[in-house]
Amino acid sequence: MKIAIGCDHIVTDTKMAVSDFLKSKGYEVLDVGTYDFTRTHYPIFGKKVGEAVVSGEADLGICLCGTGVGINNAVNKVPGVRSALVRDMTTAVYAKEQLNANVVGFGARITGEFLICDIAEAFIEAQYQPTEENKKLIAKIDHVEKNHPEQMDPHFFDEFIEKWDRGEYHD
Ligand code: RB5
Repeated sequence: MKIAIGCDHIVTDTKMAVSDFLKSKGYEVLDVGTYDFTRTHYPIFGKKVGEAVVSGEADLGICLCGTGVGINNAVNKVPGVRSALVRDMTTAVYAKEQLNANVVGFGARITGEFLICDIAEAFIEAQYQPTEENKKLIAKIDHVEKNHPEQMDPHFFDEFIEKWDRGEYHD
């Protein structure tokens, strides 16, 4: 399995450690940069990770910046990407199992290197658990991404709201 990984300049060292960890576990790693500590901009590398995943060049993506907020926002703008910014195992596994997330984001100045490695591995190994419900939710997310004019319709989510009213959600 090939994992695309990208970061901005302030967490390049952590990105390299995560990359080495993944290689030691037998994954192929596509490092899209940045490769040093020269000031740069996280959207560049979020875009590169997202494009590698959506094009099929990589199976999954990992992106890191200081807080994770910037690069995770950027990667989520690439059509077809569903990325979760995570700090814990439960969220990462949920993102894969329920949302079929194809990228995971980290704040490498927030979360420690060893924990990032463990969470990244758990994310990669978790399997999407398709259900009728989550397939519809993912389809809605994809639909929103494509910016169709009917999304301006205030009834766009009525199907979900009606189900809630009928008591069909038991979360
Ligand atoms: C540095 O550019 C810093 O702002 C960035 O790594 C990140 O924390 C943004 O979310």
